[in-house]
Amino acid sequence: MAEVIIVRDQEEAGSIAASLVVEQLQRKPDTVLGLATGSTPLSTYAALAATIRDMGLDVSQVRGFALDEYLGVPPEHPQSYRSVITSEVVVPLGLTPSLIHTPRGFGTGVQASGDEYESAILAAGGIDIQILGIGTNGHVGFNEPGSSLASTTRIKALAAQTRADNARFFGSPGDVPTHCVTQGLGTIQRARQLVLLAFGPAKASAVAAALDGPVSASVPGSIVQLHPRATVIVDEEAAALLQHADYHRMARAGVAGLGLG
Ligand code: GLP
Repeated sequence: MAEVIIVRDQEEAGSIAASLVVEQLQRKPDTVLGLATGSTPLSTYAALAATIRDMGLDVSQVRGFALDEYLGVPPEHPQSYRSVITSEVVVPLGLTPSLIHTPRGFGTGVQASGDEYESAILAAGGIDIQILGIGTNGHVGFNEPGSSLASTTRIKALAAQTRADNARFFGSPGDVPTHCVTQGLGTIQRARQLVLLAFGPAKASAVAAALDGPVSASVPGSIVQLHPRATVIVDEEAAALLQHADYHRMARAGVAGLGLG
């Protein structure tokens, strides 16, 4: 079972997730980070930037791979995930830009982009720690319901629900791209550690389906149940429909209270 941590708010979640990343960075200075976009990981990136600054951590060798990218959006577009990763992660954390990758979603030969990206992740030795959000329909990365559990990085169509959810980042729903390049569910499962975050009532049913329902292509987030090292960090609203919320609270309080250091 994934470790489930129910927190007060996004700040507490961000500081717990950032501490998991920092432990990894201390073990391996050229750690390979898996980077999610969206609003959910922002408190993690903010906490990470502050910790790196306060501890004076050298992150110059850190490598990174974004989960996904819109298809047909030029990299310089403010809503391309290349731009978002640059402004939300690379700059605030002080990472080396040439070591941080996003899938190529624009230009000639884009059909080969998924295989190229998959090979680049393998060549880097695989992802050490993957930060994840979850869509209201249960998607992770842009693996929409129905995606193969063994899938690798490839071009996919976005679900209508996802385009509606992401309309807030674009001028209108019609401006949201229809396709993307996303790491597959198999790619994500090969990461050595997963940290999935979710906040707010709109995520409650997706979180419950991912953690308590069957492992299923219909709920891509349910892959966390298969992963040997997955931490799920949710606020009370996102945890509202979890069957075992009391158990998760008790387990956390119990370990903290044992004084094991
Ligand atoms: C986006 C991204 C996902 C993200 C999810 C949730 O479309 N492709 O990686 O986890 O949808 O987004 P948010 O965190 O803004 O709720």
